[in-house]
Formats: sequence, structure tokens, C-alpha cells
Amino acid sequence: MITMQELRDHYRFSDDDGELLKSLAPLAGQNQERFSREFYDYLYGLPETAAILNSSNRERLREMHSNWFMSLFAGIYDNHYLNHLTRIGHAHVRVGLNVHFVNAAMNQIRHFLLNLIDGNYSDREQRRILREAVEKILDMNLDVMSSSYREEELKKVFVSRKIESFLIKATERFTYGLNLALVLALAGVSISVVCLFVWDITHIFTGDMEKGILSALGELLILWMMIELMDNEIKNLKGGKFNILVFIGVVIVAMIREILITTLRHDALQTQTFLAVTLLILGIVYYLVSKSQQMQPRV
Ligand code: HEM
Repeated sequence: MITMQELRDHYRFSDDDGELLKSLAPLAGQNQERFSREFYDYLYGLPETAAILNSSNRERLREMHSNWFMSLFAGIYDNHYLNHLTRIGHAHVRVGLNVHFVNAAMNQIRHFLLNLIDGNYSDREQRRILREAVEKILDMNLDVMSSSYREEELKKVFVSRKIESFLIKATERFTYGLNLALVLALAGVSISVVCLFVWDITHIFTGDMEKGILSALGELLILWMMIELMDNEIKNLKGGKFNILVFIGVVIVAMIREILITTLRHDALQTQTFLAVTLLILGIVYYLVSKSQQMQPRV
């Protein structure tokens, strides 16, 4: 944990800077109301920050932000002041405020203060040193406030950061290896299906024509399904999104093949009806999933 002295050293914040800020206190006091109004206009103008404000005690919040503004010019920048800044950071983390908005809000505050100095000090050198002091204190504030977010990130460790990142990497590699093995296995199976297809084609010429044609058609369907699966796996390996639709398609193809076989075997009507109804349901599911995928924004 950094001390206030270290923070001051790192930002080259001198006692003179402290005095300069203190000299701005009367001007800041005259503009405190305007600051508060403009700050809240800004926060209410953004949906994300407005949502946070709406779920907080508005009056108390306004007072806290307004007091913080005046504390910039109190002239005392000790460890007590540092604790105050740390508390602000934690308060923001607690309400789930994204650090991005703290940075953006600080930018607005910076413009407000620099404009105030420009509009009220005619001496160029005086303006320069006042602006420098203001820039330093705002950056020091932002530094401490945003470090609370880093602290929260670091807290999210179960055993040790090193071991955890090693485990995550190892698991990622393992999954990648498994996917690779799956693609190879699919390729192997596809080759067997091609052999089976050739074998069934020979059936057509050696007698049982109907059986040969239907079986060959079944194998073609399986092959088409294998291609889809492999395509999906390869996309997955390249970092693409997992596509559930492919799996529904695969089941549909398997059903169609089953229907072909049952017709060939002249199975009971009940079995055939059952398969036909299942196919219809799968078709509806396929349609609904593909519709919902079309409606989702692409990422
Ligand atoms: C540079 C910008 C900001 C500064 C200097 C600042 C300053 C402060 C201060 C001094 C407190 C009181 C902390 C305490 O003593 O408990 C506080 C709390 C709070 N701030 Fe900010 N704030 C900033 C940006 C924002 C933004 C962008 C939001 C967005 C909505 C926000 C929302 C809040 C809320 C909701 C709390 C109350 C947390 C609680 O209930 O404990 N602040 N802030």
C-alpha cells in the first residue's frame, strides 16, 4: 500500500502546489453549486451512470460528491486524505460502477476546473502553475480511486495467481487437444463411411437393388452429417462459436436415415409414425433455433 508521501513524490506534488490549491478554495466555493449541477447533468446523461444514481440516495450522494470537490482545495494532503480517496474507490467498486466512468467523469471535472482557472486569472504564469497543481491533484485522486479496482481484481484469487493461470492454460491446451483428436476421429470415421458407401454401391449391381440404393443413400446422409460436424469442430478450433444448430441437423439426418431403413424393413406402422412425428418435432426445433440465431446480434 502506497503512502501519501510516496504518492506526492511520484507526482512531484510540492507544498507550493498544496498552497496554490488552497488559494483556489474561495473560487471553488463560489462555483460549488454549478459544479454539482453540471456533474450530475453529466451523470444523468449516461444510461449506465444514471441507473446507478437512481438506485442510490440522491441527496446524500450529491452532498458526498460536492464535498469531495471542496476537499481538493482543503490544503491538507496527508495519509488521512489518502484514506479518504481509498474509501471512494471502494465505494464505487461496491456499487458496481465501471472504472471507465470514473475516468470519463474525471475528464469532465478536469475541464470544469481548467476553464474556471482560465476564466478567472489573467496572469499567464499564475494560470500555468494553478493548472499544474490542479492536474496533479486530480491525477493523484484518479490513481488511488482506480487502484481499488485493481485490488478487487487481485482479491479474486483462490490459491495462487501463478498456479491458477498455469491450470487455466493447461486446461485450455487439453481442451484444444481433445477437439483436435475429435476432428481426427471424425475424419477416420468418414473414411470408413466412404468405404461402406462403395460396398453398398456394389450391392446394386450384385442383385438387391432396392436395399443397395437405400443403404447408399443412408451412407451419403451420414457423410453429409460428418462433414457438417467436422466443419463445426474446425471452426471451433479456430476460435469460432459453438453452433447448436449443427447438432440438431445431425439428429435430423440420423432420423431420416432411420426412416429409410424402417421403410426398407417394412416395420410396423406405429414405429414409422413415431419416427415421422419425431422428425416433425425436430424440424420445428431446428426452425425455431435458426430463427432465434438470426435475431441475435452477431458478435
Ligand atoms: C472522478 C469522479 C468521481 C469522484 C471524485 C467521486 C467521488 C465520490 C465520493 C467522495 C464518494 C463518497 C465515498 C465515501 O466516503 O463513502 C462517492 C460515492 C459514490 N459515487 Fe462517486 N465519484 C466519482 C464518480 C462517480 C460516478 C461516475 C458515479 C456514477 C454513478 C458515482 C457514483 C457514486 C455512488 C453511487 C457512490 C455511493 C456509494 C455508496 O453508497 O457507498 N461516482 N463518490
